[in-house]
Amino acid sequence: MGKRVVVIGSQWGDEGKGKITDFLASKADVVVRSQGGNNAGHTITFDNKKFALHLVPSGVFNPNIINIMASGMVINPVALFEELNILNKQGINNYRLYISNRAHIVMPYHLDLDELYEELKGEEAVGTTKKGIGPAYMDKVARIGIRVADIIDSNTLLQKIRNNLIFTNMILKANNKKTYSEEILYDEFVKIGKQIEPFVIDTSILLEELIHEGKNILFEGAQGTMLCIDHGTYPFVTSSSPTAASIPLNCGITGNYITDVLGVTKAYTTRVGEGVFPTEFEDETSKKIRITGNEFGTTTRRPRRIGWLDLVVLKHVKRVNGLNGLSIMLLDVLSGIEELKICTSYELNGKTIDYIPANYDEYKKCIPNYINLKGWKEDISKVKSFEELPINCQKYLTTIEEILDIKITVFSVGPDREQTVTLKNIF
Ligand code: GDP
Ligand code: IMO
Ligand code: MG
Repeated sequence: MGKRVVVIGSQWGDEGKGKITDFLASKADVVVRSQGGNNAGHTITFDNKKFALHLVPSGVFNPNIINIMASGMVINPVALFEELNILNKQGINNYRLYISNRAHIVMPYHLDLDELYEELKGEEAVGTTKKGIGPAYMDKVARIGIRVADIIDSNTLLQKIRNNLIFTNMILKANNKKTYSEEILYDEFVKIGKQIEPFVIDTSILLEELIHEGKNILFEGAQGTMLCIDHGTYPFVTSSSPTAASIPLNCGITGNYITDVLGVTKAYTTRVGEGVFPTEFEDETSKKIRITGNEFGTTTRRPRRIGWLDLVVLKHVKRVNGLNGLSIMLLDVLSGIEELKICTSYELNGKTIDYIPANYDEYKKCIPNYINLKGWKEDISKVKSFEELPINCQKYLTTIEEILDIKITVFSVGPDREQTVTLKNIF
């Protein structure tokens, strides 16, 4: 029987999910993206080539792998075909890709609404990626969304667009923004429907078949648990749930099928966009981390905010997802830092706590308590085993394992596929 492994972003996104999914994909038969859209940016590096994926699952580099974009995603088809074109130019043209007929479409007006809502929020703006993700999920829940199945049915599409525009144009007009014509959108999306149709299938049925055939399946998370609409730092979050519990719902399978949940975390913490970030710091060391780790957003190029590793966050993420293994990424970036800090609890109103307060303003008041660990000077980017790591680096990893009571299954010492060390086989 195959394994069904979930790869979970365990911080605020950009933990290296793309890299680890691509690495594990050598032993997988299927790679599935289940939520989010092109707000995600997953960087993959091998054979001296670098790829940035936003919508397409990270199994596209292997022609034997079946890639699935499941029903919980919101898909901007224009962005999807641009991404496939860029991959094509980079020599990636032999892939197997299936798209759920139930996934929602990010329509052009969602981009305008994303921009507008951020503008209206002013000081409280989330700092979204402006890819229309929030408004697309809003329409899904409001039951006025357009789904993949809708754009490939030219008989009913016009009515569906009309139903949506009653609301969308009302909001745009009230804010002096350009409104949309149903006929123009209809013509555009009938064409896009024809273009996307060859990829479209009921991916729940497909997944069920693949599971029964005993295939090894990787569910590639997008975003991170701290950006989860339910369990993240609400309201500074994304509009979907990137947790393990969301996989069955977003893929149309039973939760009983999940065999492993692998958390992916950086050896430190980063965040893009606005929102609480207790261990954030800004000094010469954070600048060094930003440069060494190339900490600029894959999707928006924004400089990422830098902080120390936060084990209160990881404890929360372990519980919410049921993590049974951890993958520590970008360990090489910490080389050369004299003293490293790890946050183990917070001070809140004179009390020590080790959980995430639900109240956003309370969370903002939390002050991290740190333990200090000695750093290491050595370049570790060519290390192939745990034993080759400098003692202080080994100590850094075992401290994380002990405090969180979790096994580190993989660690990563550079962006390349080769710069990955497996401590416990996942497949
Ligand atoms: P994702 O969104 O979780 O897939 O992560 P991103 O791709 O947005 O960001 C992770 C960044 O770290 C990318 O630029 C990767 O190439 C890079 N990366 C991943 N693992 C390592 C590592 O171990 N060391 C270094 N130096 N870079 C890494
Ligand atoms: P990957 O998959 C990091 C952040 C945005 C913003 C908030 C809401 O690469 O880890 P949205 O556009 O989703 O409405 O923005 O969420 N965000 C991410 N940050 N990595 C991501 O994806 C993100 N996707 C969204 O910066 O703060
Ligand atoms: Mg990313």
